[in-house]
Amino acid sequence: MSRELSVVVLAAGMGTRMKSALPKVMHKVAGKPMVNHVIDTAGKLNTAKTMVVVGPDMPQLIASVSPYSTFEQTDRLGTAHAVLAAKDALIGLTGNVLVLYADSPLFTAETLKRLVNAREAGDHAVAVLGFCPDDPTGYGRLITDPNHGGLIAIVEDKECSDAQRAINFCNSGVMCFRAETMIETLSAIDNQNAKGEYYLTDAVEVACAAGQSCVAVEVDEDETLGVNSRSQLAVAEAIMQERLREAAMENGATLIDPMSVFFSSDTKLGRDVIVEPHVVFGPGVTVGDDVMIKAFSHLESCVVANNADIGPYARLRPGAEIGVGARVGNFVEIKKSVVEDGAKVNHLSYIGDARVGAKANIGAGTITCNYDGYRKYHTDIGAGAFVGSNSALVAPVKIGDGAIIGAGSTITGTVEADALVIERAPRIDKAGWARLFREKMKALLGK
Ligand code: UD1
Ligand code: CA
Repeated sequence: MSRELSVVVLAAGMGTRMKSALPKVMHKVAGKPMVNHVIDTAGKLNTAKTMVVVGPDMPQLIASVSPYSTFEQTDRLGTAHAVLAAKDALIGLTGNVLVLYADSPLFTAETLKRLVNAREAGDHAVAVLGFCPDDPTGYGRLITDPNHGGLIAIVEDKECSDAQRAINFCNSGVMCFRAETMIETLSAIDNQNAKGEYYLTDAVEVACAAGQSCVAVEVDEDETLGVNSRSQLAVAEAIMQERLREAAMENGATLIDPMSVFFSSDTKLGRDVIVEPHVVFGPGVTVGDDVMIKAFSHLESCVVANNADIGPYARLRPGAEIGVGARVGNFVEIKKSVVEDGAKVNHLSYIGDARVGAKANIGAGTITCNYDGYRKYHTDIGAGAFVGSNSALVAPVKIGDGAIIGAGSTITGTVEADALVIERAPRIDKAGWARLFREKMKALLGK
């Protein structure tokens, strides 16, 4: 790739078969909308300009692709018509223009680069990514010249002769255009066909008729999947998860049972991370080196530093920051809190809107009471503090460095550094009371 590259992403379809209030391309694969996968993949090729064609009334989609410019295709008159919705932005571009469908999130940057290179190599008007499915029904067929092997036409399934229908080299939908001749080519496409649409695929015949050449490049079928239904969305998810698992292992993480670990497309794992079975990484997770993530843990929008130990059954919610060598154990939920280096929250706790100081120890069942039904309040636990089991820390509250809280306390005010505080109802002793109670009840009820 030596020349400039711009990208048009077609995202105007509502996707009725999804049966959703959300535009189809906003449905997520590995925690990210499909349209953003497509944009990000193209972005790896160092794109000069990215244009997204949207349908009417798609504010979420426009927000999701921001800051890229969007162009509305008001009437759905076909794929060529959709690309021309961005015509004003296409004027004056040089080099290559890639056209991508936003509902096809699995193409890799390497494949797109291969297509662009093929177009540049022969200075072709159009380069098309083709694939050979077992069942070509529904796809446009790529017709190549038997003499020179060049691509001479794409014939839509509905327009195919019997001989053409037998061809299984199909259009994946991804096309790369020579920017300088693109508008002229697309403007010459008409809608005289079975669907009465302006087919982008007709660009090949138009260019050839004008004496220009086109080329087809083959890609693995795995990359070409277009999502039209929820079950195809699940297939795309499975393929993407497979890739993310491979990449995680490639980069030095151990997945004991890869099939049961689910990643987001932006999950970052350090080296020598061990992930036990049944762990889910939501969006925005960064994990350092030598971290152990035990079975059945759920992490999202959080940072875990080197040597930390998470789970089993831990839940790290947005804004959790787990320090070096810290430990978050079973049935512990951490939200918007910093657990500093070497601190331990080992059992059955909720820590929200808090700081847990370095090497502090939070006893089993400790709860930060951070919410009064209206607002959230902060809890500050000093370094080396020891919070006894089953304590309720009623925020806003501060516990000094090295303080000890007696088990079962409900702490409502400041605890000084190095103090012992026990805040619970005083003990009442009544010798023999239980026996007398039983005798009384037996006399009354006869049992
Ligand atoms: C298209 C190709 C076909 C290819 C197939 C691969 C054309 C004419 N045909 O067929 O050769 O094998 O994809 O999946 O391009 N769109 C718009 N505006 C429109 C029409 C479509 O934005 O007016 C968008 C759709 O939302 C979709 C994409 O373009 O994301 C493809 O359109 P679709 O109607 O699904 O084309 P196919 O018939 O599948
Ligand atoms: Ca389609």
